[in-house]
Amino acid sequence: MKDLHDYSLLHHNTFNIDARCRRFIEYENVEEAQYICKNLSADDQPLMMIGGGSNLLLTADFNGTVLHSAIKGIEVMSDNEDEVKVRVGSGVVWDDFVAYAVDHNWHGLENLSYIPGEVGASAVQNIGAYGVEAKDYIYKVEAVDIQNASRVTIDADTCNYSYRQSRFKQEWRGRFLITHVVFRLSKTFIPKLNYGNIRAKLQEQGIERPDARQMRDTIIDIRREKLPNPAVEGNAGSFFMNPVVSRSKYLELMALYPFMPHYEVDADSVKIPAGWMIEQCGWKGRSLGNAGVHSKQALVLVNRGGATGNEVVELCNAIRRDVKEKFGIDIHPEVNIIRK
Ligand code: EPU
Repeated sequence: MKDLHDYSLLHHNTFNIDARCRRFIEYENVEEAQYICKNLSADDQPLMMIGGGSNLLLTADFNGTVLHSAIKGIEVMSDNEDEVKVRVGSGVVWDDFVAYAVDHNWHGLENLSYIPGEVGASAVQNIGAYGVEAKDYIYKVEAVDIQNASRVTIDADTCNYSYRQSRFKQEWRGRFLITHVVFRLSKTFIPKLNYGNIRAKLQEQGIERPDARQMRDTIIDIRREKLPNPAVEGNAGSFFMNPVVSRSKYLELMALYPFMPHYEVDADSVKIPAGWMIEQCGWKGRSLGNAGVHSKQALVLVNRGGATGNEVVELCNAIRRDVKEKFGIDIHPEVNIIRK
């Protein structure tokens, strides 16, 4: 277990912002997580649970305790001809787990390859990409209840998963230390090719029906082309969520922008890519202070070097204002912004 005071979070956030916390605790197993919960005092508050810090923007030092899981391990719980249930430590790097699953011919997560962050956060954030969401494969979440240090196992159905949402982000915020996530993966590979340019990217390589490895490699190529490497330019992936608008609003916009990309949600609502709107507002590639908009994907805000969290927030606000003015739509950050 690590227990450090006045600790820099520089290496715990992919925006590469040098903010400090009063106390930093890292636990390596369930017993340590329980021990921490029993021994936290009022002085340790407020608490902040972090994973790989790939969805985090720090705008000030955090005057409280940061808790981080270093629980590792990938363990088969049950295995039959059709599927496997795998229990994964919350501190396992997400993409290491995806790679491991692909190597073992356990399927479903291929399209979620190369997403930064750790397994625990995948269950909080319901990470998603290229037509797949983590919730499609999460079976149970194991955690320690901070209030009484007891172990709990939560069925995926109880987590109320939806687009980038779960109860862990809502009424359960700050309540649990997630220790493991159990995934249910298939022994059969069914490629999901319908999102964006996946098919085109495969065809470039002469592949009609990819195997799981080819699918993973293709997703990695697509992400590498579009998304900045945090080690080079700090960022937290998509900064904003894609807004869901009413069908009447969508039709109004389609009349003005007939080529507007969009995704059907249901009979009443349509999702509009925020990145497209931000680009239409002229922000793609631009900067405000040391914060900027990525030149290949306008949904991603970047630290051009030495940006403070507040500079990123100022850029975020300027973009939100312009999108609201041009399209009449409110866009909301997906990134967790920690304010003083
Ligand atoms: N677009 C533009 N300009 C841009 C960016 C996008 O015109 O600068 C257009 C694209 O041409 C496309 C549409 O918007 O028609 C959607 O773009 P893209 O496929 O790149 O996906 P996105 O909606 O911008 C979402 C996720 C990403 C995920 C991709 C692929 C959210 C908030 N983001 O982005 O997730 O990788 O789809 O599935 O839903 C993340 O969460 O950090 C993340 C990177």
